[in-house]
Amino acid sequence: MHALAVTPLFALAVPSRPVLKPPPLPVKLAGGLFLFATSVPAAEKQRSADLQRLAQSALRNDPRVTMELGPGIEAGGVFASAATPDALCLNFQVQGGNAWAECNAFAAKTGDGLELVDLEIRMMDGASLSVDLRPRDAAAGAPPPPPPSRTSGASMSAAARSRAPRMAAAAAADARRSSPGASGAAARELLLSRRTINDFEPELPADWEAALVRAVEAATFAPNHKRTEPWRFHLLGPAAARRVCELNAELVAASKGEAAGAKKLERWLRMPGWLVVTCVGGGGGASLDDPAGAAREDYAACCCAVQNLCLSLHADGLGTKWTTGAVNFDARFGAAAGLPDDEYVVGTLWFGRAATTPPPPAKRLGVEEVLRRHA
Ligand SMILES: Cc1cc2nc3c(=O)[nH]c(=O)nc-3n(C[C@H](O)[C@H](O)[C@H](O)COP(=O)(O)O)c2cc1C
Repeated sequence: MHALAVTPLFALAVPSRPVLKPPPLPVKLAGGLFLFATSVPAAEKQRSADLQRLAQSALRNDPRVTMELGPGIEAGGVFASAATPDALCLNFQVQGGNAWAECNAFAAKTGDGLELVDLEIRMMDGASLSVDLRPRDAAAGAPPPPPPSRTSGASMSAAARSRAPRMAAAAAADARRSSPGASGAAARELLLSRRTINDFEPELPADWEAALVRAVEAATFAPNHKRTEPWRFHLLGPAAARRVCELNAELVAASKGEAAGAKKLERWLRMPGWLVVTCVGGGGGASLDDPAGAAREDYAACCCAVQNLCLSLHADGLGTKWTTGAVNFDARFGAAAGLPDDEYVVGTLWFGRAATTPPPPAKRLGVEEVLRRHA
């Protein structure tokens, strides 16, 4: 790793560095879906988020670090953490566009705050990521190298870009073969801990868009018969979301009265993130009622995609609610949300930071009630 040598600002002695034990690279790549949510102990969650923010800001402001999106570098999931009473170390993903790197950040605890001591960063996928990190010899007083342009360190071809998800998937498969237990336990924890979220914090976190892109990528890895890839994802901006909220309020008011409509409008307008998932219609003209028809299989594939998407967001600390209702199937919904005519709605997904996470639904059939063994 190249040391970025972020100069400590504090006059106190630098505490000893906690020992990080990051997982091997293939496991990290597999962890793109499964590991992230579990790597920081609960007591360090807030400090860990603060340290990532500090590191992200240092990376964005360092002219020697360039990625495809330059100043858009985002700190992502944590692979490993280590803490002492005086210090915190994190090993986490950073992302610029489709390019990944990993970062080690070391900070001293100062009361309720943190002082960044140093940062290290390195590529995770040499074929598709170019990070310019010329060592800076500040101690020797050497002049810093001329800063590269914001995009010069990020020459990723379209071919390399399209290879990146496949490479990550292949690495994930290798990781599972070499260490099925490690990623398996984390994956299971993630599957079981996802909940439908009803109350979101009002604002999306700074890194939500990178998390959403990762989630859509995960969605596109869902199974789909005859490789039809029937899913589409429509990210609604404030104007489109408001049109949908108002249409819904109108429908609710018509069926349950003005007061109910107004209450619904107020609640829906508070949803921080809006994604409408659709299925490209047609299915070879088959009906959804035909169990072997392409239309039904495409809808099934879209539902798998939604689940992948929700799990990926969950891994990145974002909650979701999959909602369907009269508004989705109203003739005016497509225009309100901006959907093309040849797609139909699978669901609206609200996403954001959970304000509260509900317990698992009380009524849940046990394994013995649903697993029927046949001789
Ligand atoms: C196709 C589909 C549509 C759903 N629509 C709604 C909805 O309109 N309103 C709602 O509160 N929950 C909706 N849900 C979420 C379920 O209520 C939720 O998954 C269920 O209560 C189990 O909770 P859990 O997701 O936390 O395990 C929907 C789920 C699916 C799969």
